[in-house]
Amino acid sequence: MQSESVMAALSVLTVNMLLSLFFPAAVSADLADCGTTKPLLHITAPGRMEALSGSCLQIPCTYDSTDTSYDSNKPIYGVWRKGFWNKNTIFHSDGSVKIYPLNITGDLKKKNCTTLFLDLNTTYSDKYFFRIESKKFKASACADSVQITVKDSAWSPSINISGDVKDLKEKESVSISCSAWTPCPLSPPELTWSLQQDSQRQTETNPDGTFTSKIQENMTLSDTHDGSNITCSVRYPVDGGKRNKTAETNLTLSVSYAPKDTSASISPSGLVSAGSWVELSCSSRAKPPVRTFTWFRNCTGGPVNVSEGHVYNFSVTEGGKFYCVAVNNLGNQTSSVISLKVKNKNLIWMGILA
Ligand SMILES: *[C@@H]1O[C@H](CO)[C@@H](O)[C@H](O)[C@H]1NC(C)=O
Ligand SMILES: *[C@@H]1O[C@H](CO)[C@@H](O)[C@H](O)[C@H]1NC(C)=O
Ligand SMILES: *[C@@H]1O[C@H](CO)[C@@H](O)[C@H](O)[C@H]1NC(C)=O
Ligand SMILES: *[C@@H]1O[C@H](CO)[C@@H](O)[C@H](O)[C@H]1NC(C)=O
Ligand SMILES: *[C@@H]1O[C@H](CO)[C@@H](O)[C@H](O)[C@H]1NC(C)=O
Ligand SMILES: *[C@@H]1O[C@H](CO)[C@@H](O)[C@H](O)[C@H]1NC(C)=O
Ligand SMILES: *[C@@H]1O[C@H](CO)[C@@H](O)[C@H](O)[C@H]1NC(C)=O
Ligand SMILES: *[C@@H]1O[C@H](CO)[C@@H](O)[C@H](O)[C@H]1NC(C)=O
Ligand SMILES: *[C@@H]1O[C@H](CO)[C@@H](O)[C@H](O)[C@H]1NC(C)=O
Ligand SMILES: *[C@@H]1O[C@H](CO)[C@@H](O)[C@H](O)[C@H]1NC(C)=O
Ligand SMILES: *[C@@H]1O[C@H](CO)[C@@H](O)[C@H](O)[C@H]1NC(C)=O
Ligand SMILES: *[C@@H]1O[C@H](CO)[C@@H](O)[C@H](O)[C@H]1NC(C)=O
Repeated sequence: MQSESVMAALSVLTVNMLLSLFFPAAVSADLADCGTTKPLLHITAPGRMEALSGSCLQIPCTYDSTDTSYDSNKPIYGVWRKGFWNKNTIFHSDGSVKIYPLNITGDLKKKNCTTLFLDLNTTYSDKYFFRIESKKFKASACADSVQITVKDSAWSPSINISGDVKDLKEKESVSISCSAWTPCPLSPPELTWSLQQDSQRQTETNPDGTFTSKIQENMTLSDTHDGSNITCSVRYPVDGGKRNKTAETNLTLSVSYAPKDTSASISPSGLVSAGSWVELSCSSRAKPPVRTFTWFRNCTGGPVNVSEGHVYNFSVTEGGKFYCVAVNNLGNQTSSVISLKVKNKNLIWMGILA
């Protein structure tokens, strides 16, 4: 039943929309960079990526060539250029150029140009272009640049709740997760939060080949969660673990619930003279607030609705048992019972029954 309601909750709020930045819908071929050159090579890689200075960045990459002179049996080299597609080579996999500490970890013969930048700093922020060089075939993916932005501070994690975060209700089973962009899968960030520390942790691969670290917990909401804060903190190790970069995100939960702690009180209490006015009042805690309070009198034929509103004023002349019911759109709750007993002709005792 728990998983059913989680599955049924299709709409999801991403508290922090930052991560959407890392998952562009598609790599847009930007022919403008090519000028008059027709691109003979295409790569599939994220068009924009963010990295953290002092940490690494893995660029998922595959390439594709339609040129007939391409021969995967010949030695194939991969080249990365910075800023422009036709100059500023920063890496050549034949070993001749290694200006930046990076490595093509993908198997170029399998058209895998996955690349690992081992240690970035903010001066690396730029557009990067991939190029293939073999004996006959040399081509640059001039239309498919990878824009790398190197930041000095950590990204705030995203807290994600299954279901409509603006309309959470008690008894609802939700799955709460906190996720963080993971540019460097070799030293992923550590997530901690104010919920259970033994939550399920994992690193997920996104459809575009990038990674997201995540902690997740399922819980059944109750009125005690209303107004509570979830704090999720992330810690990225940088400079080979010598330092940490941290960030955090808070989310205050708003959970609606049926009336709780409904109680009836009397004024005055104890002995009162017959014919005097007494006041019964009903109180309750509910979200949204109680829509109606209804007073019932317990009669032999069953309860009778005697008044509406949180206060019931009447002139007491006889005994009886009264209680109130608090109602909001999520349910109702019945109060304790107030008992009026005739002591003698002129005195009536008023008290609350357990
Ligand atoms: C939470 O529920 C989902 C599906 O309902 C399940 O796949 C997942 O394993 C659960 N996670 C935990 C930590 O129980
Ligand atoms: C690049 O990768 C190769 C093999 O995968 C490895 O031997 C080499 O040490 C790596 N270079 C760096 C700078 O990590
Ligand atoms: C490309 O190579 C990387 C290793 O660097 C690997 O993790 C990835 O799965 C490969 N991608 C494909 C599409 O084979
Ligand atoms: C950034 O890296 C480049 C090349 O590796 C290096 O020359 C430069 O000093 C570094 N800058 C900072 C601020 O670390
Ligand atoms: C939030 O959860 C939904 C559904 O589980 C998922 O599609 C989405 O990618 C998640 N967002 C983040 C930032 O994890
Ligand atoms: C939750 O956080 C908000 C601000 O972030 C604060 O005003 C509120 O007092 C906090 N509530 C609890 C229960 O800590
Ligand atoms: C980084 O954070 C971890 C875990 O909180 C801690 O053990 C370590 O000492 C921190 N490192 C530095 C250099 O602050
Ligand atoms: C999150 O909440 C904590 C305490 O509840 C507060 O100290 C911290 O400043 C908040 N962080 C943000 C980013 O709002
Ligand atoms: C109210 O009356 C019903 C029958 O009409 C009885 O079952 C119930 O116990 C009564 N409640 C109290 C508190 O007297
Ligand atoms: C109680 O009586 C009032 C006035 O007659 C009526 O408006 C209300 O709908 C009744 N409530 C219930 C719960 O029967
Ligand atoms: C109930 O009666 C008292 C007087 O006994 C009066 O002060 C009070 O305003 C009345 N309350 C309501 C809601 O009528
Ligand atoms: C209170 O809720 C129950 C179901 O939980 C319902 O049967 C009953 O009619 C409700 N009573 C009132 C006064 O709304």
